[in-house]
Amino acid sequence: MSALINGALWMDREGNPIHAHGGCIIFYGGYYYWYGEDRRENYYVSCYRSKNLADWEFRNHILTTESRTEAYRVRTKIQLQNEDSKKVNLERPKVLYNEMTKKFVLWAHFENGKDYHDAAVGIATCDTPEGDFIYHGHFNPYGYMSRDCTLFKEDNGKAYFISAARDNADLHVYRLTDDYMNVECLVHRLWQGEYREAPAVVKLQEKYYMISSFCTGWAPNQGKYAVADSMEGNWSSLKEIGDETTFGSQAAFILKVNGQALYYGDRWGGNGEKYFTSGYVIYPLAEVDGKLEMSYCENIDISAYT
Ligand code: GAL
Repeated sequence: MSALINGALWMDREGNPIHAHGGCIIFYGGYYYWYGEDRRENYYVSCYRSKNLADWEFRNHILTTESRTEAYRVRTKIQLQNEDSKKVNLERPKVLYNEMTKKFVLWAHFENGKDYHDAAVGIATCDTPEGDFIYHGHFNPYGYMSRDCTLFKEDNGKAYFISAARDNADLHVYRLTDDYMNVECLVHRLWQGEYREAPAVVKLQEKYYMISSFCTGWAPNQGKYAVADSMEGNWSSLKEIGDETTFGSQAAFILKVNGQALYYGDRWGGNGEKYFTSGYVIYPLAEVDGKLEMSYCENIDISAYT
């Protein structure tokens, strides 16, 4: 299978639905690893792998309510279940490989499972891409709220955490420490009052592009993007991309394959059981006459990219 139907819930090699929403894909050791939200049973994050971005093999529930925990900093709150013994929320998980520590480091939006008031970020690590991750708890970077989020890694290993702060009004960019275990500096408070969510970053022809959505819960809205010469440089104002629903999607991440950028988004089903009907989309991105463009397609033949 290489033509993927945009908006559908894709299946893994065994014919089971892929549970990897709001996630990310990294390339490591000859495989693409896809991490994402798995809201079933006691799972939080699942991992799939593929050689061709079309046939996905389920590998592990890398983070669950039973995951091993290890305090990392003083006064860390470690909560994989809430006071009512219910699941917390770990949303939009992103994973980077850290060359220095040789660890896979996961950052995800943490909420207590009852409301969205914690607005924090949880961190977990593992020595292998698909092993059982160790959970290190959640925190608010410099005390700020932190909701929808992403990670971005430069070719030289410098990494950034981008998350929605101040009740989503502002989008913060934090430079990470060399081990990716903490924020080192708040480098930007972008587009204050614009309420950007679902950030995703890609570097294309020496420029950095950040796509994000507006804040409308599970309903899709007009995607926008901005451009910069460097992560810490000046970001442009927001410009529209795609149509008024971003072609029926909200950004999960952007994958670069052979120099081409592919936008991966979720077509959310909604709350509760409807969440499990959420599908996936891939839309190619390209820089055309100084503008970032997203091409709508009903199906995507991923073999054309790999
Ligand atoms: C969206 C957000 C999702 C999820 C959802 C809950 O705006 O991007 O990750 O948090 O709200 O309503």
